This record gives sequence, structure tokens and C-alpha cells, in this order.
Amino acid sequence: MSQPIAFIDLQAQRRRLGERLNSAIAAAVEGGQWVLGPQVAQFEKDIAAWAGVKHAIACANGTDALLLVLRAWGVGLGDAVFVPAFTFAATAEVVALAGAAPVFVDVLSDTFNMNPASLEAAIALVKKDGELKAKVVMPVDLFGQPADYRSIAPIAKREGLKLFCDAAQGFGGSLNGKRAGSIGDAAATSFFPAKPLGCYGDGGACFTNDDALKDLLLSLRMHGQGSDHYEHVRVGYNSRLDTIQAAILIEKLKIFDDEIEKRNAVARRYNEAFAGSNRIKTPVVIEGATSTWAQYTMQVTDRAKFQADLKEAGVPTAVYYPIPLSKQRAYAHYPSAPTPVSEALCGQVVSLPMHPYLDETTQNRVIAAVLASAG
Ligand SMILES: Cc1ncc(COP(=O)(O)O)c(C=O)c1O
Repeated sequence: MSQPIAFIDLQAQRRRLGERLNSAIAAAVEGGQWVLGPQVAQFEKDIAAWAGVKHAIACANGTDALLLVLRAWGVGLGDAVFVPAFTFAATAEVVALAGAAPVFVDVLSDTFNMNPASLEAAIALVKKDGELKAKVVMPVDLFGQPADYRSIAPIAKREGLKLFCDAAQGFGGSLNGKRAGSIGDAAATSFFPAKPLGCYGDGGACFTNDDALKDLLLSLRMHGQGSDHYEHVRVGYNSRLDTIQAAILIEKLKIFDDEIEKRNAVARRYNEAFAGSNRIKTPVVIEGATSTWAQYTMQVTDRAKFQADLKEAGVPTAVYYPIPLSKQRAYAHYPSAPTPVSEALCGQVVSLPMHPYLDETTQNRVIAAVLASAG
């Protein structure tokens, strides 16, 4: 019996970083400033420079990072925020938590990202209904590649909407040489362990070039703090990044460029191996973009059989996502453009093992199993 294959092998990265991580964690514990210690400020500086954006504001998780920005912009009751129907629940959840309405937009079948034509349709719908005020468009960089901001940004500008990038999966990707985090009026990411840049627990960050927004975010993450620790000028949150997590992320960021290259090499090998199969649709990266390959997600016709075959061969697979948000019980009552592509994708997508340390021998086992089932 050959070794089981990991879907994401976080221990391989841990072995590579080894003592560097252990010493960073020990130093954070010894330092005694366990919440918002000096490592947090250092990490915010490092990651902002890496992304090419003026400010990074670290917080407790990616969901909070999204919510903090919406709250800072005053998004709330009566406002519409345009989100893709095919994404993780947090994208729409934060809109509802802010008191506003998520309005669902369909995605493109080759990139899985927001369809600009469907965004236009959703905006028209909101205008026609006249009940909500269109405020923000929130594309998601799904599975690691930036949304089509070249088409979406002009629509946002024309309609007077803020452009807010949910880069929870896409941090590490770029478009036209601009890295995720530096695109849009603001962006947010997650450091959940399975993300391309993940910590050892929960973590997140907001990004912006806007000084006033940065000040609001710093206040909101600290209970709406004013100029003094016990002065509260707005209702905020307790949403800080732990010092230990920042210490881990400082070390992980140093090898992130190399890991992104390795992820791309893995994706290239998959794409080449599956190019000849007419029963597999491989993922497409748009011109001028790089993906951080949070997932390698392809489409197959008979997914249940495919997953069963791969399981039999010892290859783990996953389905992101089985139900579009526009059809989820928690969100089905919100407005939506027609979402036929999202609905179809939910029945066809399947993700394969993907991480920077997937060696060629192991990847060949995955490829052989895939081709045996759907080649
Ligand atoms: C697209 C998207 N948005 C938001 C989030 C929320 O991030 P977190 O799990 O850190 O709260 C996630 C992560 O799971 C995500 O995939």
C-alpha cells in the first residue's frame, strides 16, 4: 500500500521552516506582548511592502477583515453589495452582518470569477427595484486568481461604487503586475492555515492606500477606540492578530515568492497532463494574471464517479462549492441576477491536491488516477 496523499501538506512546509518557526514562536511567547505585540506591526509593514500597498491592518480572521472595511465605509441597512454567487459563505455573510443586502452576481465558467456582464445585470436590477442603494462591488479572487478587475473597475467607477477585493484565496496572485491587496479601494485576506499564506490558527488583514480608512480600521479592530485606550468613539470589535501568529507569518512571508512559483509549477503539470482529455475542463488564468493556486479546481462530467474512483486510488479530492450562495437557505431571500453558471459549476467542480511541496512522483500518482477515471 503506497503512502496516503495529502490534499494540502502543511507539515512539509513546517519541516522546511523548522527551527526558524520554533524560535519565532518562542520569542513571541518570551516577549510577553501576546496581543498586538511588536511582531504584528512588523508583519503589517512586511506584508504591505510585499503587496505594494500603503497600509496593512492585521485582524483576527478574514471574515472580520471583510466586515471591518464594510463597517468603516458605513455600509449598512438599505445598501446593496454585489458579490459572486459562487464563493465561500463569508463573502455574503459579512454584508448581511453589516446590515446591508448581498446582491448575487453570476460567475464565468472558465475562471470561476465574477462575470462583468452579470454585474451590470445585478446593478440594473437594484436600480429598477429602487429599494436598495448600490454601494460596493466585492469580487472574489476565487481559487487564487484575481477577478477580472480590468472590466469590473470601470463599471464600479461609472456607477460610483467602491471596489473591495475579497482576496482571502487570492493573496499572492497579481494582475497586470499589481499584487492582490494593492488592487481596488480596499482588499482583505485570510491567514487561515489552508490558505496560500496561512498561520497556525485564525488571522486576517485589510489593505488600503487610503490613510483615513486605515485610521478607521485601527479603531474598529480595537473596540472603536478613540485617541485614548478607554475612549470609544464608535462601536467596534475585538479583532486583533495574535503576536504568535504574526511571528509565524513573518517567517512564512519570506518564502512565499518561492512557494508561489512551486504552486504554479504544480498547476502547469496538471494542466499539461489533462490537456488531451475531453472529459476534463482545466482552469483558465486570464491574460496578465498570476494565480496563487489556493485550489486546483477543474470540471468533470460525472463527479460522483470521479471522486469515488480517486478515493479508491488513495487520492483525496474536495468540492468547493456544492451550493451557490444565491440558493443557500441563509441567503436565498436576497436579490440575485440569474446565476445559471454558478449553479452548473456547483455540480461539476472538483479540486485536486495542491500545495508547493507536492513532488513529481506523488503528483504523477494523482495524474494517473485522474486520467484512469476521466482521461
Ligand atoms: C473567499 C473567502 N472569503 C472570506 C473568507 C473568510 O476567511 P476566514 O476563514 O479567515 O474568516 C474565506 C476563507 O475561508 C474565503 O475563502
